[in-house]
Amino acid sequence: MEKVLLPEIKDYHKIDIYVAHGGYEALKKALSMKPVDVTEEVKKSNLRGRGGACFPTGLKWSFMPKETTKPKYICVNGDESEPGTFKDRQIFEFNPHLLIEGTLIAAYAMGVQNSYVYIRGEYGKWIRLLQKAIDDAYAKGFVGENILGSGFNTHITIHKGAGAYICGEESALMNSIEGERGYPRVKPPFPAQYGLWGCPTTINNVETISCVPLIIKNGAQWFAGIGAPKHPGPILVGVSGHVNKPGVYEMPTGVPLLEIINSYCGGVPEGKKIKAVIPGGSSTPILRGEQLEGVCMDADSLKAASSAVGTAGLMVMDEDTDMIKVITRITKFYYHESCGQCTPCREGTGWMFKILKRFEKGEGRMEEIDLLMDIANNIEGNTVCALGDAAAWPVQSMIRRFRDEFVKRVPEGQRATAETLA
Ligand SMILES: Cc1cc2nc3c(=O)[nH]c(=O)nc-3n(C[C@H](O)[C@H](O)[C@H](O)COP(=O)(O)O)c2cc1C
Repeated sequence: MEKVLLPEIKDYHKIDIYVAHGGYEALKKALSMKPVDVTEEVKKSNLRGRGGACFPTGLKWSFMPKETTKPKYICVNGDESEPGTFKDRQIFEFNPHLLIEGTLIAAYAMGVQNSYVYIRGEYGKWIRLLQKAIDDAYAKGFVGENILGSGFNTHITIHKGAGAYICGEESALMNSIEGERGYPRVKPPFPAQYGLWGCPTTINNVETISCVPLIIKNGAQWFAGIGAPKHPGPILVGVSGHVNKPGVYEMPTGVPLLEIINSYCGGVPEGKKIKAVIPGGSSTPILRGEQLEGVCMDADSLKAASSAVGTAGLMVMDEDTDMIKVITRITKFYYHESCGQCTPCREGTGWMFKILKRFEKGEGRMEEIDLLMDIANNIEGNTVCALGDAAAWPVQSMIRRFRDEFVKRVPEGQRATAETLA
């Protein structure tokens, strides 16, 4: 497949090169269409959000009220703080104008006057690169007042995060932009009704928004025909862990995970066996190596395998990996990043971490395996935002798929007694 999100063109991040290759033509085309038709085209393309939940993008845009006197906003989510996820930074670095053009088209479709690109604070280099691209786009008249003589006005501003994973959650992100503590909001009301400063707001991931110019330029049908029919389009897959060539790869959705590992990434070092993969960033349920046959990088295929595509951050673990160490480290992250607003998440993530540390040292207790599952089950679905679920799913899936590894970390004498009792 021709690369369209990250094309291999020298200096493509520079505005002149981008324009020379047809950049900002999609914006011109969109400005000649009715805003509602732009949204319709995105709907027809079947584009689904690349920020984790796979929500249909055109449908989300259509929730924005048309008759309102309030200002409307877009937040482009570039917080990218989920362990195993490192794809949006590639767009900031190698194709920032695609993101800017997508934001402008989305703003036109929804009648938005101001868009914020929220970027994690640690991304200093990428913040500078995107700011330069935005400045250049202003200078050329693509952003600002009376864009390309159309009478349409819209602005783009970067907002830096301060290193909190929770601020990637869309409602915490809006609170953060407002200068408040990054606590997620109770929903409903949803952002399209009550978003930034109580005004209609749409939040989309960086990669999602970057697909928009491609859809407008090439047509919805072209996009809908790429990859998996119900979750189509190009997708950036970030591969890390035990592969020979880790990195971010652009491909159509629906590529088998084993093909990604073996063909794109050159297989597992020293020809070792795959023990497990986490397919879509640390929150997505873990899969055993033996389960991977026929599982593909798209929403339906991974759902059928009881996992999720998430942010397509594929983490590969070879046969020597200590799964208890993996789950302890992941849980430490969620414990550290829990904002503390909801009791099940604030307390539960800490309890899970404490128990897992005992297992890591080989001091687990048999009954604690079920206790861990019980805590995870009591976090899942019982919190304001999905950080709780994100902490619960790895623990639940690790116990379901690697229970034997937990049992091995219970001292032998106690293991026998507890097993007999159970
Ligand atoms: C704790 C937490 C962190 C999140 N972090 C991000 C993030 O860094 N980037 C992102 O795009 N979405 C993140 N999300 C998902 C957003 O809330 C939201 O669903 C997404 O930005 C919507 O964009 P999309 O429809 O284009 O996927 C996070 C969600 C949760 C619960």
